[in-house]
This record gives sequence, C-alpha cells and structure tokens, in this order.
Amino acid sequence: MTDQLERLDRLPLRTNLRGLRPYGAPQLDVPILLNVNENTHGVPADVRAAIAEAVTEAAAGLNRYPDREFTELRTALAEYLGHGLSADNIWAANGSNEVLQQILQAFGGPGRTALGFPPTYSMYPLLAAGTDTGYITGERASDYGLSAASAARQVRDLAPNIVFLCSPNNPTGTGLGLDVVEAVYEAGEASQTVVIVDEAYHEFAHDGTPSALTLLPGRERLIVSRTMSKAFALAGARVGYMAAAPEVTDALRLVRLPYHLSAITQATALAALHHRVALMADVEDIKRQRDRIVTELTRMGLKPAASDSNYVFFGGLENPHQVWQGLLDAGVLIRDVGIPGHLRVTAGTETETTAFLEALERILTGPGTASA
Ligand SMILES: Cc1ncc(COP(=O)(O)O)c(C=O)c1O
Repeated sequence: MTDQLERLDRLPLRTNLRGLRPYGAPQLDVPILLNVNENTHGVPADVRAAIAEAVTEAAAGLNRYPDREFTELRTALAEYLGHGLSADNIWAANGSNEVLQQILQAFGGPGRTALGFPPTYSMYPLLAAGTDTGYITGERASDYGLSAASAARQVRDLAPNIVFLCSPNNPTGTGLGLDVVEAVYEAGEASQTVVIVDEAYHEFAHDGTPSALTLLPGRERLIVSRTMSKAFALAGARVGYMAAAPEVTDALRLVRLPYHLSAITQATALAALHHRVALMADVEDIKRQRDRIVTELTRMGLKPAASDSNYVFFGGLENPHQVWQGLLDAGVLIRDVGIPGHLRVTAGTETETTAFLEALERILTGPGTASA
C-alpha cells in the first residue's frame, strides 16, 4: 500500500485525493466469511432459476442498449416498497454506493459539504472525496447513540448541503428513531440540506420498526436509500435504489451515465423481486442467528450492541486484533472496524454462526485470553 501511495504521489492527482486509501475490506480465501455483512444464505434455487431464465432472455437483446429509464424495475421496486410510492419516486444504480455517489454528484461537489456521524459507513467520506465534497464529521454520544436534539443542533450549526443518517447504522447495527430524521430535516430547512437515510439493512430490523419511507410525503429534500445486496442476497449483482420526490430522481438523471443499469442487471433484479418469498424466509433465519449471537455474546461476558441489522457490533475485548486473528486462524473472517475494544460479525447460516461462537469461546477461555 505504501508503494501504491508513493506511485500515486508521482501523478498529478487532485489534491483532495492525495494520501487517501481505497475502500479495502480484506477479501481472503477463508471457509467462513462473516466480514462484510453479505447475505450468508445464498440465492435460493427457485430465485436462481428465475434469474437464469430472465438473463437468457435478456441476452437475446444485448446488441441493443438497455432501457435507460429501467421503468419495469422502478415500477417493481415501488410496488415492493409500498407506502403509496410509484415508479416516479424510484431511482436505481449499480449498488446503493452508486446511488449515494450520484446524490453527491448532484447535490455536493466543490465548495459544498456532507455531514456524517462516525462511527458510520466507511464509504461516506470516500464518496465525498471522489466528488470533491467536503466531509464533516459530526458527534455521537459515548454509547454511539444519536439523539434528535444533538443531530438537529449539529445540522443547524454546520449547515451542510447533505447529511448521511445511517439506520441501522454500520458498524454499530442500531437503528435511529424517526424523530431524529424529522428533527434533522427540519433543522436543515434554512441550509436546504438534503437528508439521506441509508436503510441498506432495513429488512433485518425487528418487526414493527418504522422506515423513513413513511416520512417522504411533503419532504422533497429527503432521500431513503436501500439495496438488494443484503436482504435480496444480490451483492454480486450490484443493485441499489432510493425513494424520494420525483424531482430528486430528475436531479440524478443529470449525473447518471447513459444506460448505467445493464439489461442483465435489470433482468436479474426483476427476477429476484418477483420471486422474493424464499429470500424473505432467509431474512427471518438471519434475524434468528443475529439474535442468537447477541444472546451468546452476552453470556460470554461481552457487550453486544442492540442490532436491527444482519450483523452484531460487540465490545468488551481487551485485544480485539488478537481475537480477530484467532478467529481467522480458526477459519472465520470477521471485521476489525478499528474501534478500540470492539469487533463486528455478520450473522451467518446456523452452522457458520455456531462455528463462530464456538471458536470465539475457545479463544476467550483459552490461555492468554483477550476479553476485558
Ligand atoms: C450502510 C451501508 N450502505 C450502503 C452500502 C452499500 O451497499 P451496495 O453498494 O452493495 O448497495 C453498504 C454496504 O455494506 C452499507 O453497509
């Protein structure tokens, strides 16, 4: 990496990209991968068959550019989200990362700022840098919570052009109350702040958790972003989307590349949406494994955060890196998010989760233990 940085330094790179490191969660060849919050349950057989059929059909038309407006997909996504949304409210791109990038291209840029509340999703500052948007780091409480009053005060004081609210938050897994979203939106009135609620993991929330989608009517600066990478087990297909007022989708049309969603991507996403019953059953199992992790880590004397996502952030570790390495040696890759005393683990299948829990307990109770 140092070599890479030195090589980059020799180029006439934009000043705000100098010294930056690319997003780089390790991609290691390990039997049990619980490090990047993927859906560990794979694509169910009937969904796979439907995708294969749809892709074969789309392949026949690959000599033509795809539907630039991906109208069928926007209609299906609106129907999936409900809340009275229509295709006019929906936009999609290659992963919600690309949706977020397009939002920054349209509403951020040189001389503008985006506010995030770390610890939060590590791509926000990188997306800001890539679009030459200033990134401002806000503050959370010592337990990583974010109250409506504190978030609203920070938005009023800092007057950012964009604010990222990640709910459930990555890496902590905890959701934000809708009162926080409402307060931030109101506080951004004077500065006309665009409020992004990143709900990448919403489908994993406990039953009855409301979505910021309910707040969309009458709030034209509010954007709710979602992804098919997690609940729909389609991280490899790269499909993310957002819901907002129709004028926001018009703004994103100004910055998207023509035909940015391939015919193969559109066909894949549509097939998965039409065959989602088995996918949603897997989401329920993942939630059970997530809750099991929280219970078991508590029993082991660790401090897991409440999670509404498909991962668990836990503290109480004296030497997290030693635990991370011990798990890796046992064939289980989890994530060291660089927060003292903490690690993050994705909920796996029942077998994977058992392997993680057993390996962790062995490490914590073995010689030279690493728990606090
Ligand atoms: C909070 C959050 N938002 C967005 C994303 C991006 O997902 P994708 O680009 O695969 O849709 C992720 C991925 O891990 C995430 O954790």
